[in-house]
Amino acid sequence: MNILLTGGAGYIGSHTYVALVEAGFTPVILDNFSNSHPAVLQRLQAITGQAVVCERGDVLDTPWVEAVLRRHDIAGVLHFAGDKAVGESVAQPLKYYRNNIGGAVSLLEAMQAAGCRTLVFSSSATVYGDPASVPITEGFARQHTNPYGHTKLVIEDMLAALGVADPSWRLGVLRYFNPVGAHPSGQIGEDPSGIPNNLMPYVAQVAVGKRPHLNVYGNDYATPDGTGVRDYIHVQDLSAGHVAALQALVAAGGQSFTVNLGTGRGHSVLEVVCAFEEASGRPVPYQFAPRRPGDVAQCYADPALAQSLLGWRATHTLADMCADAWRWQQGNPEGYGD
Ligand code: NAD
Ligand code: UFG
Repeated sequence: MNILLTGGAGYIGSHTYVALVEAGFTPVILDNFSNSHPAVLQRLQAITGQAVVCERGDVLDTPWVEAVLRRHDIAGVLHFAGDKAVGESVAQPLKYYRNNIGGAVSLLEAMQAAGCRTLVFSSSATVYGDPASVPITEGFARQHTNPYGHTKLVIEDMLAALGVADPSWRLGVLRYFNPVGAHPSGQIGEDPSGIPNNLMPYVAQVAVGKRPHLNVYGNDYATPDGTGVRDYIHVQDLSAGHVAALQALVAAGGQSFTVNLGTGRGHSVLEVVCAFEEASGRPVPYQFAPRRPGDVAQCYADPALAQSLLGWRATHTLADMCADAWRWQQGNPEGYGD
């Protein structure tokens, strides 16, 4: 079964590519490489032992996307393509509304024209904003605190409206918590451009000696050690979640759904620092800094619905996440740019 991965050359798409091949699907990548490196394609070929099919172009180009869907006889689409930096979305909101919302509209129109109505969408725990309590279930109120989060919320609503208008669509919405780690081969991983915004890649760059220390944003939150708590999920578990989602949608009588993909466990910033020091054998110097605007104290999932609907649950520990992130960081200090 041929599956299109928009944004398939990116961090989560590339890992999911491998999981799809292992599960017997035939993935095709569509990417404009605006936030990824073509070198990932050779790495994917080395891991899977199979030639990689990649269509280079923009998801905003509706007629071209329709032609790609037809040319490869695509049965379902995993839609990863989009921009994801929260701070940049505040500074350049139109870039986010065009690429994320415009990209989703363009893809859905192309799918409709090509007669392909099975989609898995990369949503985010950001749609819960500042949650009233933890753990977070899918029924919690949604809010947005920045344009990036707003695009995820609007796309979720757009998919719901489409499902009402035409119930033959099979739509899987996956709300990721905090994806981290890398493929255990050390061949593919997260390759942020410039200074990492996210904790794990920043910690990895401190451990490898690229940056002098970590700034821990806030130590006065109402959490056990005062630092922010998040639900870090290994990208390998996330990839398996996409395979499970796709299998549920394409199964006879498959129904649309929205689920959290998280572990159900929260870890503080200081716990991540300790686990990374242990995994790498290197010190991770840090200093406390003021809270980062927009951050919440705690965010972790109730992942029970994904388990009951998809038979999926996360199995990797924080130690696994750090060990794999470290293997990738050490073997590829400049990411794919080496
Ligand atoms: P990423 O930036 O590594 O991958 C996105 C890919 O999409 C890149 O390869 C980029 O080149 C491509 N792309 C962007 N715009 C495109 C366009 N118009 N046409 C074609 N290709 C385009 O990001 P990621 O971390 O792999 O995230 C994938 C998805 O998951 C995104 O939608 C993101 O918002 C969502 N998500 C990510 C996280 C996270 O922490 N990484 C958390 C929650 C949700
Ligand atoms: N943190 C630091 N120092 C840093 C970076 C982060 O202390 O240099 C702290 C943050 O304050 C937070 C925790 O580490 O307490 C995690 O921060 P991340 O930036 O790694 O992740 P966030 O939870 O802030 O955000 C991520 C994605 C968002 C997504 C959200 C929910 O960046 O796009 O998870 O899925 F919306």
